[in-house]
Amino acid sequence: MDPYIRIEHLTRTYVRGTNEIHALNDVSVEIADGEFVALMGPSGSGKTTLLNIVAGIDHATSGAVSIGDQDVLAMSDARKAAWRTRNVGYVFQFYNLMPMLTAYENVELPLLVLPLTRAQRREHAQAALEAVSILTRRDHYPKQLSGGEQQRVAIARAIVTDAKVLVADEPTGNLDAESEQEIMTLLKRLNKELGKTMLMVTHDSAAAAFADRTIRLEKGRLNTKTPETAGA
Ligand SMILES: Nc1ncnc2c1ncn2[C@@H]1O[C@H](COP(=O)(O)OP(=O)(O)OP(=O)(O)O)[C@@H](O)[C@H]1O
Ligand SMILES: [Mg+2]
Repeated sequence: MDPYIRIEHLTRTYVRGTNEIHALNDVSVEIADGEFVALMGPSGSGKTTLLNIVAGIDHATSGAVSIGDQDVLAMSDARKAAWRTRNVGYVFQFYNLMPMLTAYENVELPLLVLPLTRAQRREHAQAALEAVSILTRRDHYPKQLSGGEQQRVAIARAIVTDAKVLVADEPTGNLDAESEQEIMTLLKRLNKELGKTMLMVTHDSAAAAFADRTIRLEKGRLNTKTPETAGA
């Protein structure tokens, strides 16, 4: 398969006063269309930084990132925001749901910037809630949902615009073993059935086992000493 996500010689240096932090140092990775890649590595090794740059949330210091035909780093911030809405879904460890909005309203949120009618938005939001088996909780507020249920809603929000790429930053990091299993099964299903290309940060080898392949960061560099392992 052709690479769908291409990360080439990516470097991200944060400057604080006279202190330079090399969060990413010459990282190159290719991810195939429909591939599920787990990203592991110690705290501070640059995992979230890599995810944020791939998702167009953070800037790079040098290097290149492309997704499909799109050069992610070349876009203006405004264009990037519009592109991101349609192309990259982001799933967070602590769900990042809006507490004053219902599950349905949280999932509908990314659609508000798209040229859709209310009826079309309802159709997409309901379909996304259904895809993660949480439609029965559509009118619940986040605080009325368990952690696993909140993460389902957050995953529905990530897929509601039909983005081809899903990035997830420790999506099961806040969940018990049973909910972790459910969320990982769901992510795997979205990968297999909807063909989502996935890049998932995790500290947990049980979660990484759901991926096709695991890559590792160490102090901002890709660790190529550890052989890439095939997952379940
Ligand atoms: N906005 C920022 N400004 C300055 N330094 C930053 C910034 N964001 C990240 N860093 C630094 O870059 C390095 C990599 O951070 P990053 O958050 O990518 O690590 P991580 O691998 O996700 O760690 P964790 O497993 O703890 O989430 C760290 O040293 C961090 O302190
Ligand atoms: Mg992180």
